[in-house]
Amino acid sequence: MSDPTATPRAELEPLLATRRDGHGMPRAFYHDDALYAAEMRTIWHGGWLFAGFAFEISQPGDFLTLNVAGSPVLVIRDDRGGVRAFHNVCRHRGTQLCRKEAGHVRAIVCPYHSWTYSRQGDLIACAGMHDGVDKSQLGLKPIRAEVAAGLIYVSLAATPPAFDGLRERFEAPAKPQGFDRARIANVTEYEVEANWKLVWENNRECFHCMRCHPQYVKANFDVYEQEYASEEIRQQMAAAVARTQTKWAAQGIAITHPKGGLAPFPDPDRNTWYAADRTVMVEGFDTESMDGRRVAPLMGDYQDADVGVLRMRSMPNFWVHASCDHAVAARLLPIGPRKTMVRAYWLVDKDAREGNDYQLDRLLPFWQLTNEQDWEICKWQQKGVDSIGYEPGPLSQRKEYNVDAFIRWYLKQMRAGGDEGNALSPLSRGA
Ligand code: FES
Ligand SMILES: [Fe+2]
Repeated sequence: MSDPTATPRAELEPLLATRRDGHGMPRAFYHDDALYAAEMRTIWHGGWLFAGFAFEISQPGDFLTLNVAGSPVLVIRDDRGGVRAFHNVCRHRGTQLCRKEAGHVRAIVCPYHSWTYSRQGDLIACAGMHDGVDKSQLGLKPIRAEVAAGLIYVSLAATPPAFDGLRERFEAPAKPQGFDRARIANVTEYEVEANWKLVWENNRECFHCMRCHPQYVKANFDVYEQEYASEEIRQQMAAAVARTQTKWAAQGIAITHPKGGLAPFPDPDRNTWYAADRTVMVEGFDTESMDGRRVAPLMGDYQDADVGVLRMRSMPNFWVHASCDHAVAARLLPIGPRKTMVRAYWLVDKDAREGNDYQLDRLLPFWQLTNEQDWEICKWQQKGVDSIGYEPGPLSQRKEYNVDAFIRWYLKQMRAGGDEGNALSPLSRGA
């Protein structure tokens, strides 16, 4: 499995060591080709990646595809209703098999010479070969796939990290949201002109929110760390927590992050690469919409709007903000040192109908704006950090503790990750 062109970990250490404690990442971290290649092997081919929602492939033969750092992946519902993933690569001469983002197949037929695979990945026909091909040895190469809380995860690692922790963390808080009973109201693919780590750094602080996201800060308490908030804001948060907790405690809907500011994540010291937290919303906001009013029917088990916002995330490629009536998720996939594809999903209840139950012009703007504002910031940050004039500045421990945590998490993965392709990921340790 080792890649002879791969840069050994020891050779990367001098570069990794240039990060100064409490500061941003040095310039080369955001565009160095060897480092980028090592990240793809260690973090992206070594960990668990969100691939899509189980409801997207509800029927046998339904599939979706994604490209993980140059490796095409196929995720398909098999004949027994299970979710499987394969390298989306023909075992004959390697052609990519399924080319669409999503679709339905009776069997997987290679568009080159028609080798045909079942929905379980077995090679069932290679007509015209007449060479005594042992079909049993030439099934599609499997990739590990797991479903938790209606989310599909895949891992390209030969020995994937333990997945049970994520399942345990996600399933209870996500149950009332009903991700398994949802549908996609809209998907937008953003080609963000920034290194994937800039996208995460941006996501991991709300220091920029007051200036860059005027609509977002009206709905959420993210900009108000409790220790530093005014008495008025503290009282508002406490009242919102009390109202929501009392109503929902018996149904397992708990405000797990009642304090304002961002919940700590990731936690490099405990190797925590997934998190689920529920926060309260500002009074007058039932959902993350422009005016705070609901924009779709309630999702899942919710019986009224007062459920705050469920936020789930997993390194290195997923987050979701879920309100009472809709959820907005992001799937990250790097496509180069300076480019990241972000697929944004707007989910509503499976029975909600556009035009009757929701209008896109009310559903989309809140996160459309937030996303576009963030990608613009990331683009300009990439231009700046590419400059020979860039020198990492200090991070605020009050406002950017999660950026610092992300950088330390990243360094830990890179240092522990080994220099073998598909190596055992450090994510597996103690997560
Ligand atoms: S490459 Fe797929 S059948 Fe030849
Ligand atoms: Fe932002």
